[in-house]
Amino acid sequence: MSKIVVKIPKEDIIYDIHVKANQLDTLAEIIAANDHSNLFIIDDINVDNLYGKVMRNSFLKAGMKSYTYTMPDGENEKNWYRAKEIMDAAFEKGLDRKSAFIAFGGGVVGDLVGFISSLYMRGIDYYQVPTTLIAQVDSCIGGKTAVNHKKGKNLIGSFYHPRAVFSDTTLLSSLPKRELISGLSEVVKYAVISDIELFNFLDDHYQYLLNENQNDLYHKIVARCCEIKAEIVEKDEKDHGLRRFLNFGHTIGHGLESSSRGLLNHGEAVAIGMVLASKISVDLGMLKSKEKDRIEKLLSKLGLPTKANEFNLQEVIRYIEYDKKKVDGSFNFVLPSSIGVMNSKLVKVDKAHLLKILEKN
Ligand SMILES: NC(=O)c1ccc[n+]([C@@H]2O[C@H](COP(=O)([O-])OP(=O)(O)OC[C@H]3O[C@@H](n4cnc5c(N)ncnc54)[C@H](O)[C@@H]3O)[C@@H](O)[C@H]2O)c1
Repeated sequence: MSKIVVKIPKEDIIYDIHVKANQLDTLAEIIAANDHSNLFIIDDINVDNLYGKVMRNSFLKAGMKSYTYTMPDGENEKNWYRAKEIMDAAFEKGLDRKSAFIAFGGGVVGDLVGFISSLYMRGIDYYQVPTTLIAQVDSCIGGKTAVNHKKGKNLIGSFYHPRAVFSDTTLLSSLPKRELISGLSEVVKYAVISDIELFNFLDDHYQYLLNENQNDLYHKIVARCCEIKAEIVEKDEKDHGLRRFLNFGHTIGHGLESSSRGLLNHGEAVAIGMVLASKISVDLGMLKSKEKDRIEKLLSKLGLPTKANEFNLQEVIRYIEYDKKKVDGSFNFVLPSSIGVMNSKLVKVDKAHLLKILEKN
């Protein structure tokens, strides 16, 4: 079991991330100590079918009243209408200021429930119980909550931290392979932005990561990524400086993801984005070519794409421009200067350079 503490002293925020195998059964005991009037579990249909019963029993055993709202799965559900429906249901069940929401699912449920929790009765407690690799290493930490708008992803949201996080790494065993691999892309991102040892560890163990029963490996990886993100968020909660490093690979990645209309998932698009951003860094004389090759090879060994095959160049550029990353005709990028170390400043990349990188990819 690992416990990572997230601290934001300026805001008087402190909470624990419990990384532990088989903890669905016991997490209710920790929550029970906080004396909530009742609990509202929000999950999606896949998670409920697999684990809903165990979770409900856990609260029953701890002597707590809980309700469950099960939503359809998928990114399209992260919207204002679903948020309103869940809040209506919470009022109907009589949730009050001493109640808490439980976000039980991947990043979609986590972001949505965080958002609702920040609004319901001007903000009540919530707990994150992330069930995908992306959610365990990324979305459950740092308090960014959101719903999507038709103008774009995550455009409506708040910063609102959970009371605690419970990451049960055994839940990852039921993830579809493609979802797991997508999460590994974010793990590589953490390694490149701040931890050469994690990078070497992934390189040494890549062949086991897609096998069954790799709980010990995932425990180590999830705990280390949580530590890295917790350190970054502690220094820059509201995304003004250091937290931007977490966007490595995401500028081009988001453009490719949006324009692929579902053909590339998030992690796949970010993997290509990281390779292309690394190429830019090599062009600018900041990253050694052999380090870029190592990043590309590791992503490929993990089963991630490193090239975008068919895409509409102008459309990708339009999405990148829309993504608020364009300033004075050039684009702001966070770029590595070696594996484990990022260039401390945002780097301006002009449109011609970006076009060339995308064309040649
Ligand atoms: N807030 C943040 O800082 C942050 C960071 C990264 C990503 N995100 C957000 O996270 C979302 C993506 O999250 P995601 O990749 O977890 O997607 P997701 O929540 O849609 O989950 C992916 C799929 O896996 C299924 N699933 C979940 N857990 C499972 C399990 N244990 N076994 C089997 N199936 C399971 C879900 O039902 C769903 O079909 C995006 O909306 C993104 O914007 C937020």
